[in-house]
Amino acid sequence: MSFFSDIERELVVTARTPVAESVVALELRAPNGRPLPAWIPGAHIDLVLADGLVRQYSLCSSPDDRDAWRVAVLRDDDGRGGSVAAHDLRAGDRVRARGPRSGFGFETPRARERVCFIAGGIGITPILPMVRAAEAAGADWTLDYSVRTRAALPFADELAARGDRVRIHVSGEGGRADLSQIVVDAGDAPVWACGPERMLGALREATGPDARLHVEPFTTGNLPSAVRREPFDVEVMSSGQVLTVPADRSVLDVLEDNDVFVLSSCREGTCGTCETVVVDGEVDHRDRVLSEAERASSPVMMVCVSRAACPRIVLDL
Ligand code: FES
Repeated sequence: MSFFSDIERELVVTARTPVAESVVALELRAPNGRPLPAWIPGAHIDLVLADGLVRQYSLCSSPDDRDAWRVAVLRDDDGRGGSVAAHDLRAGDRVRARGPRSGFGFETPRARERVCFIAGGIGITPILPMVRAAEAAGADWTLDYSVRTRAALPFADELAARGDRVRIHVSGEGGRADLSQIVVDAGDAPVWACGPERMLGALREATGPDARLHVEPFTTGNLPSAVRREPFDVEVMSSGQVLTVPADRSVLDVLEDNDVFVLSSCREGTCGTCETVVVDGEVDHRDRVLSEAERASSPVMMVCVSRAACPRIVLDL
């Protein structure tokens, strides 16, 4: 079961609680007190912040609590301002939100079923509701959670209360998680993971092309270099219009400049909202949504970050 909603609504911040170094938990409610839409563990919402910045945050409260959503925001002073704007929200502030959306498609395990959770840094947020669901179902679960320092460890009390099913790896204390061993120990169990791209890349390497691995990156970091530095052309199939994308602009920017509407959200290649069918041409995939298998099998591209690997591509727009 998955949920997808693009309805934008106004919410009010009803609590703001520091939960770790540079991390605050925000509790969000409908101003009229009405119940919020249903969601499943792993779902996220978009917060629409000042200057049109949109940032995604995983819901880390309980899906049973329809009165309030909770997200945790890591402040990144070197970012583009979205996390700072979200981190600076105060109780009583109003903020617009879209969603929830379920990118993970989490399936609650059965009693005694083995499940392996892996998280890094703020990537714990979508994993927490999954852990609670696995525990409630009586599953045989473990969580390996990597953080830089103990001060940067959010939700420490809740994690500690779950005893030795939770293994904390503090890299600042020399405690790095051995991902290869964790994957071996997991056997055939599904692996649900969220964290920095470097960690997820290592995990993909450890599992190989393995359907039991379900991952979600929480941050973009730097985009990979484009394979072509030259401008390229994009043909809009419905109108035959041909637009030139210069090296310093995205396909999405150029389409919007020319009044070709494409739904978008993160504009960083992480949410999948701008997925567009490619009718012809070779794509230089730079997103963090599609797996290698999906890139090979489906002719789509995330137009906010991906580019052409050839002089012209034709899009089904
Ligand atoms: S807008 Fe999110 S992947 Fe393009």
